[in-house]
Amino acid sequence: MNHLGTKQLKTERLLLRPLAMEDAEAMFDNWASDPDVTEYLTWPAHQSMDVTRLTLRHWTSQYVKNDFYQWAIVPHGTEGPIGTISVVAHDNSVDMVHIGYCMGKPWWGKGYMTESLSRLIKFFFEEVGVNRIESKYDVRNASSGKVMEKCGLLYEGTTRGSDVNNQGICDSALYGMIRSDYYNT
Ligand SMILES: CC(C)(COP(=O)(O)OP(=O)(O)OC[C@H]1O[C@@H](n2cnc3c(N)ncnc32)[C@H](O)[C@@H]1OP(=O)(O)O)[C@@H](O)C(=O)NCCC(=O)NCCS
Repeated sequence: MNHLGTKQLKTERLLLRPLAMEDAEAMFDNWASDPDVTEYLTWPAHQSMDVTRLTLRHWTSQYVKNDFYQWAIVPHGTEGPIGTISVVAHDNSVDMVHIGYCMGKPWWGKGYMTESLSRLIKFFFEEVGVNRIESKYDVRNASSGKVMEKCGLLYEGTTRGSDVNNQGICDSALYGMIRSDYYNT
């Protein structure tokens, strides 16, 4: 695969772009400080904007790397991001990216994450040339699984007690799409 980094992407309702230090307030207010958002995530809700700034400093310093993918999700006509979608792991030996995402509660249930992940699927197969896109979720976090399903990823199985998040050790459901699924060959 040919890594391209966090290239700006558009969908009908959203701009997907790199984050900047100026996003700190929106990131803190819109999702990072909310324990309901981080319920099934691996990082704790931010207690202060200093934590958000540190996170952003770390991310923004990595955009120089072409295998670093961390997008802000920004509805058209607004400035501030409402969430992120990113590559949380990749494996060059099998041309695979593993996707993670989160978004603020006021924007749940509007199809925004399905729209974002669908755009990334197109980007990774058609531009980066991956062979496999995968994602996983705590089986109690059904809406996350619904996003993967709606984007056409296939259920590949659940592994018991194989992951950990803010709720402790959990059963994890894995979804994947490979190049031949995408091109229907
Ligand atoms: C998971 C998350 C990204 C979903 O984003 P979203 O934009 O609300 O997702 P969408 O609107 O595209 O789709 C959500 C789907 O789940 C469904 N859903 C919501 N809650 C559900 C539940 N408890 N059980 C089953 N389905 C549920 C919705 O009805 C919708 O399906 P539909 O379009 O068929 O009605 C968002 O809730 C989030 O950021 N949560 C916090 C962070 C997180 O958990 N990230 C994932 C970690 S693996």
